[in-house]
Amino acid sequence: MISTASAAAHPNIAFIKYWGNRDQELRIPANSSLSMNLQELETRTRVSFDSSLAGDQLILNGIPEEGTALQRVSTMLNRIRNMSGLNAFANVESENNFPTGAGIASSASAFAALSCAASSAAGLYLSERELSQLARTGSGSASRSIPEGYVEWQAGTDHDSSYAFSIASADHWDLTDLIVLISKEHKETGSSLGHTLADKSPIQGARVEDADRRLEICRKALLERDFPVFADIVEQDCNLMHAVMMTSDPPLYYWLPGTLEVMRAVQTWRRNGLPVCFTIDAGPNVHVICPVKEADKVKRKLGSLAGVKSILECTPGGPARLLEPDFPEV
Ligand code: DP6
Repeated sequence: MISTASAAAHPNIAFIKYWGNRDQELRIPANSSLSMNLQELETRTRVSFDSSLAGDQLILNGIPEEGTALQRVSTMLNRIRNMSGLNAFANVESENNFPTGAGIASSASAFAALSCAASSAAGLYLSERELSQLARTGSGSASRSIPEGYVEWQAGTDHDSSYAFSIASADHWDLTDLIVLISKEHKETGSSLGHTLADKSPIQGARVEDADRRLEICRKALLERDFPVFADIVEQDCNLMHAVMMTSDPPLYYWLPGTLEVMRAVQTWRRNGLPVCFTIDAGPNVHVICPVKEADKVKRKLGSLAGVKSILECTPGGPARLLEPDFPEV
């Protein structure tokens, strides 16, 4: 027996961040979050359940993977095998059209594409909500890569109540995410370990307690396309998350000198009237957000900063989707 399906998904950038879990295993987050899918970046994944296999296999960008990466994929496949009653192992082939581990959340698009492809290959017909719940168990931020455009992940309190949904389509607001690559080195502490340390910071409680307020301001600004309000709340939320990271035990410092150089430049440009703001995930690269009509100007300015290695330009992206019958090369 061989049963195959393929799917594609985009990574996303969070404007209100997910950091810390109330349930590590199910990835029920400490707070709700809000993000935008990134259209130009994509993971494509093909899953084949094959009764002749002696174990699950993972091939990532053409290279066979074992250890933690395979284990994480197998955990998701086990969940799908339990849901469907299927007991065959699977071959998983996945390709990114962007550098893995460069601080662009590849786990989001990876687990969104995997949950779509694997659930379909297993004969499960899941709703968007169910797919988002499933993707969440593989990587929290993957729950936000299932729906389209601008997406809110409602924290909830258990598996059923924790899922993401679209609050606006990709064409609602022409924002651009200029991903400024400061370093391509693999980060020292991945997000999964980082989440477990969040509660070690004495200020995580305050960050979480205030999260709904920030999310409401951000959602409203986004729906009203109010850039000045949006910019302030996105930067405050990012800085709060990094303050928690830096005050965890052990402390996590994701910024490099080039990161701060971009942050300070962006603040100066905004003070001088340019609509632009920054946000940073668990790595040194900076996501510089602006309306698309300002993107060329902002890119030119970024290009003149010493620490900037290269820039990826992304617009709001669509949902995770099945590719039928199989995917062409990325
Ligand atoms: C800083 O979703 O990568 O990007 O659930 O362990 O896979 P896991 O973590 P992950 O965490 C993302 C953290 C973040 C903020 C965000 O995207 O909200």
